[in-house]
Amino acid sequence: PRLWLIVPAAGIGQRMQAGQPKQYLRIDQRFILDITLSRLMDSAPFSGCMVPLHPADHWWPDTEASRDSRIQTCTGGSERACSVLSALHAMAEQVADDDWILVHDAARPCLHTRDLSNLIERLYDHPVGGLLASPVADTLKRADTGELHEVAETVDRSDLWRALTPQMFRYRLLVDSLEAALREELPVTDESSAIEFSGNMPVLVEGRPDNLKITVPADLALAGFILSRF
Ligand code: C5P
Repeated sequence: PRLWLIVPAAGIGQRMQAGQPKQYLRIDQRFILDITLSRLMDSAPFSGCMVPLHPADHWWPDTEASRDSRIQTCTGGSERACSVLSALHAMAEQVADDDWILVHDAARPCLHTRDLSNLIERLYDHPVGGLLASPVADTLKRADTGELHEVAETVDRSDLWRALTPQMFRYRLLVDSLEAALREELPVTDESSAIEFSGNMPVLVEGRPDNLKITVPADLALAGFILSRF
């Protein structure tokens, strides 16, 4: 099977309170989206890459990635899962059912090459696929439903992991699972949850905890620091 990449970049990044979506903020003068895409494309033998963009996106033509012939774009949707599905549909004619699709957030520029190759190596012969993930480090509390956020209980964290990206699944299974989950209006915040809803068990592959998703303004400086240590 061949490897294909989808990097959803159609979000508007509301929590960043910036003038533009977070994937178009800059670290060391480069767009976050360019850092993410070049790191991935230089580190694994992808046959192609699809980037779903917001319909009103006007930054893409200014990226380095827009001049890379291996990278194509399509129109994303109102939710992350819709953006990924739109990319999967746009790739349909080039991709075989059992080819691998890796989905990686545009806003995660700090992915280590070793984590990427580890994920691919571990899952390449697996029927379903899986994702990078990191064991939870903090003690977790469940809040009651009141306004004070009083602690209802401490949650056992011994088998809890944070889901990271890339997530890597077989093409046909991913398309069918996302379509079914969206049709049934299930909460799909990542590809793995759609695969789980379809009755399959993705594999967790331990990745570095510093593969952070830039979400709030302070994450930008932190990502810059992490990248400077690579
Ligand atoms: O908002 P969040 O941090 O969950 O977004 C994760 C990734 O999904 C980002 O790269 C964002 O651009 C992308 N996304 C998308 N289409 C949406 C919402 C988010 O491609 N409708």
